[in-house]
Amino acid sequence: MPKPIRKAVFPVAGLGTRFLPATKAVPKEMLTIVDKPVIQYAVDEALAAGIETLIFVTGRNKGVIEDHFDMAYELEATLRERNKASAMEILNAQLPTAGNALFTRQQAPLGLGHAVWCARDIVGDEPFAVLLPDMLMSGDPGALRQMVDVYNRSGGNIVSLSRCDPDETHQYGIVSKGEDFGTHFEITGMVEKPKAGTAPSNYYINGRYILDSKIMTLLGEQKAGAGGEIQLTDSMLTLMGQLPFFGTPFAGETYDCGSKLGFLRANIALGLKDSELGPELAEITKRLLAESQS
Ligand code: G1P
Repeated sequence: MPKPIRKAVFPVAGLGTRFLPATKAVPKEMLTIVDKPVIQYAVDEALAAGIETLIFVTGRNKGVIEDHFDMAYELEATLRERNKASAMEILNAQLPTAGNALFTRQQAPLGLGHAVWCARDIVGDEPFAVLLPDMLMSGDPGALRQMVDVYNRSGGNIVSLSRCDPDETHQYGIVSKGEDFGTHFEITGMVEKPKAGTAPSNYYINGRYILDSKIMTLLGEQKAGAGGEIQLTDSMLTLMGQLPFFGTPFAGETYDCGSKLGFLRANIALGLKDSELGPELAEITKRLLAESQS
């Protein structure tokens, strides 16, 4: 059995410029999908996969993320006084174990690879997970759980994959497929945001990674790549020459909440799936559609 995956890194330093003015004072990770902030979905997914230590790489103006994962004494005291047991339960369910949520800062927006590298001392020398909270992964079991199940059999490094339209490959990290093992396949190459018409496949890295800690040394030496940023994909490509690398297609739905349309799609889709809100929301959606088409 390979070493267990106990730590997860959440890069949450991004400025969220695509969502201005909503993200002027509120971090994009705190925007709401139905009734939870985006970041909470990724944290819940990590905890369900057995992650013990949550490592947030934050930046300026992200303090509210820290507050979200802290106990809110005044709120709890008021809820207790008013006998709001179900609201208390919701709060308790999302509270990490004391000492298990750690925060470090990426001081300048130098890229995803640099953000992950900022967590190197906390990660230490054990394999770890990375979850990009913008990508909301809806599946049962969750995306990271699916990956951990593969990892326990295969070891090595693993990225979760989804498929996109061929004309969208320039937005993502794209992999080349090697030998197929059923639940996962060998990765023989990867490229960050390939130019139109040059992508080796339409399998894109959907924002979930299980990585050997050796990646941290490579990230420390990594030169800027696509977009002038230090890219995680570039260091993974180097690591691929040294250690096994697998891709596992995610069985579930991927919502890119970093784009306005993806964010709206996630709200509608998860709202429709919600047992309390779903039926009425379906009626509302139908009515709105009919109105917009008349
Ligand atoms: C990052 C990664 C990319 C991945 C994508 C998923 O890009 O660099 O490989 O496919 O996340 O969302 P970004 O969205 O930060 O540009």
